[in-house]
Amino acid sequence: MSERLEDIAVKMVAGGRGLLAADESTSTIKKRFDAINLESTETSRRDYREMLFRSEDAMKKYISGVILYEETLYQKAADGTPFVDIIKAAGSIPGIKVDTGAKPMAKFPGETVTEGLDGLADRLAKYYEAGARFAKWRGVIAISGTLPSRGSVRANAQALARYAALCQEAKIVPIVEPECLMDGKPGDHNIDRCAEVTESTLRIVFEELADARVSLEGMILKPNMVIDGKNARKASVAEVAERTVQVLKRTVPSAVPGIAFLSGGQTTEEATAHLSAINSGYDLPWFVTFSYGRALQDSALKAWNGKQENVAAGQREFAHRAEMNSLAAKGSWKAELEKAA
Ligand code: 13P
Repeated sequence: MSERLEDIAVKMVAGGRGLLAADESTSTIKKRFDAINLESTETSRRDYREMLFRSEDAMKKYISGVILYEETLYQKAADGTPFVDIIKAAGSIPGIKVDTGAKPMAKFPGETVTEGLDGLADRLAKYYEAGARFAKWRGVIAISGTLPSRGSVRANAQALARYAALCQEAKIVPIVEPECLMDGKPGDHNIDRCAEVTESTLRIVFEELADARVSLEGMILKPNMVIDGKNARKASVAEVAERTVQVLKRTVPSAVPGIAFLSGGQTTEEATAHLSAINSGYDLPWFVTFSYGRALQDSALKAWNGKQENVAAGQREFAHRAEMNSLAAKGSWKAELEKAA
């Protein structure tokens, strides 16, 4: 298998396949398990993720790569097979979340800066040894009438750029994720405000990537869609697609091979419908696909409900969402297909 960054990047986003974000930190997965009244332990986290990664058909056909949390990168399935081997056997690429979280930013109330740069070069070398070929770092940009501040966007963009450069030196493709929040507080901003913030954030991110000498051909962008805040009016699917494409075309160089969206709090079907609309009727210079966490997992988690006897049901739900999003990545999803299933 070719190990050039450019080839790995294309493999992550091409052919109607996309990324499964299964990199919830220990505190985030606890919140997801709380919703089904399941205690989060190393074993329950293993069982849940094993269910997803062993959905062999879905993994082979629709999932190009899986973003893992550090624990999972080194974890083994119940029968002792390393998860990394299960993922690779399905023809999918193991990846790793490397940031250590968004922390309150000193002197910037209501905003965060993502940490994790100290010692990152050494960690990346270990993750490469363990089989990771791409990484993820998420910068979080708050949106309100007055936020984000210039200082916070700049600090997050700089950290993303330094992370991306370190990844490329370690032969790992960086997923650069500047998430302008739809579900932050108060979340009542409209799509115009989201467009304005997303556009200016992406401009600054690409400025910092250039200054850090990051090769655009060897990275993937993971942006939010341009969308109303969670507590605001809901723009139509067509409007979300149009505004998102407009902002991306204005800011993302065509040298970037692919864009893989986060779902960010959209319902599972919204995330699919929006992706499909973005991929139909626009002439885009990049592969555009999904890198969904909640929008790929929510229904599978509910169907599984923490019980061994529900593994097959959970896998069916996961396979369905993966298939729907794969169709969306090719612009050929239809609402009727949801009902048919
Ligand atoms: P969501 O799709 O649930 O937003 O998660 C994607 C992700 O990896 C956020 O960092």
